[in-house]
Amino acid sequence: MISEVGYSISLTIMSFWSWWWDAQTNLDQLACTILTISVPTLVILWYKWMGTTPLPPGPYGLPFVGYLPFLGNNIHERFTVMAHKYGPIFSLRLGTKLHVVVNSMDLVKVVTRDMDQTFANRCPPQTALAITYGGSDVAWSNNNAHWRHMRKLLVSQVLSHPNLKASQGFRKQEVRKTVNEVYTKIGTKVDINKIAFDTVVNFVTSMLWGCSKSGEGKDSSYIGDGFREVEFKIIELVGAPNISDFIPMLSRFDLQGRLRDMQRQLEFVDSIFDNIIEGRIKENSGKIEGKVREDGRKDILQILLELKDQKDAPMLLDITLIKALLMDIVVAATDTTSTMVEWVMAEILHNPSVMKKVQDELTEVIGMNNIVEEYHLSKLTYLDAVIKETFRLHPPLPLLIQRSPDKSCVVAGYNIPKGCIVYVNVWAIHRDPKNWTNPSEFKPERFLNNNWDYNGKNVKFIPFGSGRRICPGITLGEKMTVYILASLLHSFDWRLHKDEEFELSDEFGFVTKKRKPLIIVPSKRLSDASLYSC
Ligand code: HEM
Repeated sequence: MISEVGYSISLTIMSFWSWWWDAQTNLDQLACTILTISVPTLVILWYKWMGTTPLPPGPYGLPFVGYLPFLGNNIHERFTVMAHKYGPIFSLRLGTKLHVVVNSMDLVKVVTRDMDQTFANRCPPQTALAITYGGSDVAWSNNNAHWRHMRKLLVSQVLSHPNLKASQGFRKQEVRKTVNEVYTKIGTKVDINKIAFDTVVNFVTSMLWGCSKSGEGKDSSYIGDGFREVEFKIIELVGAPNISDFIPMLSRFDLQGRLRDMQRQLEFVDSIFDNIIEGRIKENSGKIEGKVREDGRKDILQILLELKDQKDAPMLLDITLIKALLMDIVVAATDTTSTMVEWVMAEILHNPSVMKKVQDELTEVIGMNNIVEEYHLSKLTYLDAVIKETFRLHPPLPLLIQRSPDKSCVVAGYNIPKGCIVYVNVWAIHRDPKNWTNPSEFKPERFLNNNWDYNGKNVKFIPFGSGRRICPGITLGEKMTVYILASLLHSFDWRLHKDEEFELSDEFGFVTKKRKPLIIVPSKRLSDASLYSC
């Protein structure tokens, strides 16, 4: 609050300054006298209001809309350019809301680790609230008991080591189906993002409710062909600038129709979830004959439904919370992973010597008469370095998920008011010449012979975030990315289609993707045709 007043006073001082300048040049003595007294008074007042901690520096904007009209589309790049001008931490007003952008490794460490507890709230956009049943999921919930319980549930019941091990069969099944499908498209154009997306969505839905999209019997578990478009729309709407967020007093008008649009997406996904959950409840009550899983194991939905009915469960779980959790898993796992597969393929195709090294390694570790299995993956050190280097240059969430302090605090000598929106500019940190030699060059070798990982402890490299809000799906995300890439690169040679022009530009979004989809052509690499069957 104090800083809000201080900010207005500083603006007033600026406009008085230009008036003073005019007055001096016009030799208006009276104006000069008034201003000579009032300017120092305002400066004293400003310091009094602000104490000794001003807001981080930043650009001025227009009344009411702030800097919004000047922001442009590629916000991560714009913020990085602004960091060169205003320094490692700067602030800007978008609409009536104060935003703070953190651009250096040292300050990211302060925000995500030293002061992790203070900066662990989220401040979700309206569209995110709509798609997550009012922010009752893990990703958009504030740092409170509800979030802790939901996150614990996700980590212990879905993403635990035994669960990931047990779901290995599903991953193999989906990857093999994909290799088989690509085999039928040899010599023709393939949209690599779509191929990867379908593989991941089929795997994730198999793990969650045991029946994949392309299963022969399209029963109540069938997720539907339009799901990819709906998911893209969800991600687009969560990242799209919305006047309702910047000027909350206008939110009831939903001027850009973003909320209405998101509610339509919610209806689509919600009806799929309802169908699946109702079907399962009927199965469980014995009204219809349920499918018995071959391994006799329970899938995630079954575990969650049983927890819901458990009297002494540590948290009250209802159907809405189950759906919020399913939404997080399906949305968080699919678009990020398929985007990464596409970026890695794009970088590899752009660097033929890298392609050769990756395929040589695959030949050596797997052999030309064999298929990729999950136990091979940890031996693919060069491919791992290629993926990490791609994560460095193209972090799918270049500003992570916005954070918000639960109390006013001081960072780098600047006042960060409670409730403002804080962005961690990973894109800038991953390309900062202070952190990386020749940062814009694609050099996987920088990730060889070093103990790099994704756990966010070294804030120089944080594609999955850092601190208590770090992505809980790192192991699964990494596993799926490496497995899909290794299989596609081992089974096929790839080239750009002659009609396609090579480019590596991105388009900012909540998940930042390639501006133009990568369309490439596979050719057979292994001589034994049986290695392409499911
Ligand atoms: C390549 C794949 C993935 C990437 C690049 C990725 C990246 C991220 C990033 C950058 C964040 C924000 C961290 C922060 O704010 O500090 C995040 C959060 C999250 N991710 Fe992932 N993710 C991936 C896969 C997954 C998977 C497979 C799941 C789960 C099945 C998942 C679930 C989540 C959830 C629930 C959050 C919110 C965590 C919280 O707020 O407590 N992600 N992810």
